[in-house]
Amino acid sequence: MTAPEEKNMDELVALCKRRGFVYPASEIYGGLRGFWDYGPLGTALKNNIRDWWWKCMVECPPIGPDGEPVSIVGLDSAIIQNPKTWQHSGHVGGFNDPMVDCTESKKRYRADHVMVYKPIVPAPPMFAFLEGDPKPAEKNAKKQKIDLANYEIVSLLELAHEQYERIIGPDATKPGTLTEPRAFNLMLDTYPGPIRGEENKAYLRPETAQGIFLNFKNVLDTMRVKVPFGIAQIGKSFRNEVTPRNFIFRSREFEQMEMEFFCPPDESQKWYEFWRDERYKWWLTLGVDEKNLILRDHGDDELAHYSSACVDVEYKYPFTAPGYGELEGVAHRGCYDLTAHSKDKQNNKDSNTRLDYFDQELQVRLQNEGVDKDEIKARSRYVPHVIEPASGLTRAVLVLLCEAFTPTPDRQGSKYILSFKPKFAPVKAGIFPLVNKDGMPEVAMKLYNQLRTKHVVEYDAKAAIGKRYARMDEIGTPFCFTIDGDTLTDQTVTVRDRDTLAQERVHLDKVEAFLDAKLAE
Ligand code: GLY
Repeated sequence: MTAPEEKNMDELVALCKRRGFVYPASEIYGGLRGFWDYGPLGTALKNNIRDWWWKCMVECPPIGPDGEPVSIVGLDSAIIQNPKTWQHSGHVGGFNDPMVDCTESKKRYRADHVMVYKPIVPAPPMFAFLEGDPKPAEKNAKKQKIDLANYEIVSLLELAHEQYERIIGPDATKPGTLTEPRAFNLMLDTYPGPIRGEENKAYLRPETAQGIFLNFKNVLDTMRVKVPFGIAQIGKSFRNEVTPRNFIFRSREFEQMEMEFFCPPDESQKWYEFWRDERYKWWLTLGVDEKNLILRDHGDDELAHYSSACVDVEYKYPFTAPGYGELEGVAHRGCYDLTAHSKDKQNNKDSNTRLDYFDQELQVRLQNEGVDKDEIKARSRYVPHVIEPASGLTRAVLVLLCEAFTPTPDRQGSKYILSFKPKFAPVKAGIFPLVNKDGMPEVAMKLYNQLRTKHVVEYDAKAAIGKRYARMDEIGTPFCFTIDGDTLTDQTVTVRDRDTLAQERVHLDKVEAFLDAKLAE
């Protein structure tokens, strides 16, 4: 297995383009920063991950801490909601990142992503760079004949603004061009309807979560659910990232897989720990190596405005290695969101609905325990607490691409392979006649027609067999079935394994069962 440090992102991005996984959006017009299009194979990979998440969350959720399957239902809410949603959720006022501008390069950066080479013994100058990309700073230092051995790396946010005059910005050539950090709202706005004015301003959602909170009561009233239960949603979200970067890691349009789990307040810690552990395990089912995954608790200074605790599942991306970068957050949102959207004369005069819950089972239990009437009344109606596992679907695509990307300099034909776990590969098998004659195409086509109704498989009779194998290796197809001269006499085909190159012979009658078994793993 190739270590993340040894994987080159430029080569992976080029492979993704060449083989139809990810293209720059509107490329023929020069592209648009922070936007990407998913090609035929990228779409297939993304859908495979999406379907697996939906299966594991909604169709067959895990067994909960009490030994019962947890209850989760699905939702697909609108991308644009009443703008009051974002005022009450806190996003209009609070969804800000600290930004710095560079007066020389005219670029804007998220201040918490700017790192600085700072001399251990203070002396000018300092060299800034974007986290994970120190090359510009090293180039600036080299130009000035400065050895960075006597420097330490600190975050820009650790430095006082007076020190900025000694810093050379990530894209600057002279010191003192970075401005003081300022808040920058991350929501993209739009104007539905014929009038374009402030009173008509709405937002593209920056998270799918709020659509779930707005529908809490609808789901409660129309479905047979009881707290604790979850509502899951997959869909596009938009953030006006100032520094979109690292391929599809941080883009302005992205897809999320979020689940809001509503539970009684006094059970929230139990469910927080449960979902933290479940979600970590889920990433292993995608074939991600445990060595490349960690859980990291957020410090108080990192918590989003709605969250009282948060733990991230982090992955060792090639551009963060040997460090890790965010993949999924499991947040304890407490009763923040339901309270914020609930009808309340003091705090929310806009909402017409109370978003609390009457817990009948708790009421009966407290009655049986002989608890005082007033206490029963107070305790059995509450605003549920929320545990939120939230991950990026498009980030999951990046993780599987990074994990699968394997340089194979010694292999004939393909310089790289994508070593996906078979279940998630866009194409599950290639079916080839060794030569395009002698009755082989007919047998191969018959096998193809048998398998295509169940699995995504490709028939290919063109080009030399080595070239056909190489293409399948590069798009991550785990198996190739080749019909050769022996097939015509003994009814067996060659099965070639993408990763080991091992070849074995399997009877034509057993090929379907072979593939079924591999894809069930
Ligand atoms: N809902 C959490 C997030 O979007 O990060």
